[in-house]
Amino acid sequence: MSRDFFEEKAGGYDRNTRRVQNVDNISGAIIRTIELQKAMRLMDFGSGTGLLLERIAPLVAKITAVDVSRSMNAQLAAKQQRLGCELEILEIDLETAEIDRTFDGIVSSMTLHHIRDIDALFRKFYRLLAPGGFIALADLDAEDGSFHTEDTGVHHHGFDRKALAGVAMSAGFRDVTVDSASVVHKPHGDFPVFLLTAYRPGVAS
Ligand SMILES: C[S@@+](CC[C@H](N)C(=O)[O-])C[C@H]1O[C@@H](n2cnc3c(N)ncnc32)[C@H](O)[C@@H]1O
Repeated sequence: MSRDFFEEKAGGYDRNTRRVQNVDNISGAIIRTIELQKAMRLMDFGSGTGLLLERIAPLVAKITAVDVSRSMNAQLAAKQQRLGCELEILEIDLETAEIDRTFDGIVSSMTLHHIRDIDALFRKFYRLLAPGGFIALADLDAEDGSFHTEDTGVHHHGFDRKALAGVAMSAGFRDVTVDSASVVHKPHGDFPVFLLTAYRPGVAS
């Protein structure tokens, strides 16, 4: 397996109040923007310790947590009994691994910037969605590279909203919108976070 970039951070990950507040804001934005339904089966891409999925769990049937980091998955597994829905954890690198089923929606928080090939990822998300399925992806707006102080496998210093919306449309997504979801306040600056939502065309069954 590739290096676990989050091995040192996983144990104390949820103790960072700035991080928790950010995911609180992101989950609130997702819940306001997407009509979540109790029968839905979602994927949380780059689920980490589960900060995002634990906030969404009571509103859906099942969440498949996808994360390459063994240490982050261990933190999530410890929460399994107190989550509001069924949980499945897939310890895979989604850049290379395939999943042979579809989801009603894919959510993600602060993970896109760890992915080398964003175009390929959006095409994979499209294939992984049932007709009518949604993506709700939150990450940093374009920044100067000062957000991260440690090497956690960063491939993008945030994203230009218009360019990312274009990537989603090129992959086949429709009704693409990008709105502000949060701001991470660090001592050396403020880092805005967007939420991109879009749908795979078709009628949900
Ligand atoms: C910054 S953390 C965000 C965790 C969580 N979503 C949150 O907001 O608290 C990024 C997560 O993405 C995971 N990740 C990065 N690249 C990945 C890949 N190619 N496949 C699966 N997971 C990946 C990392 O292991 C890490 O847990």
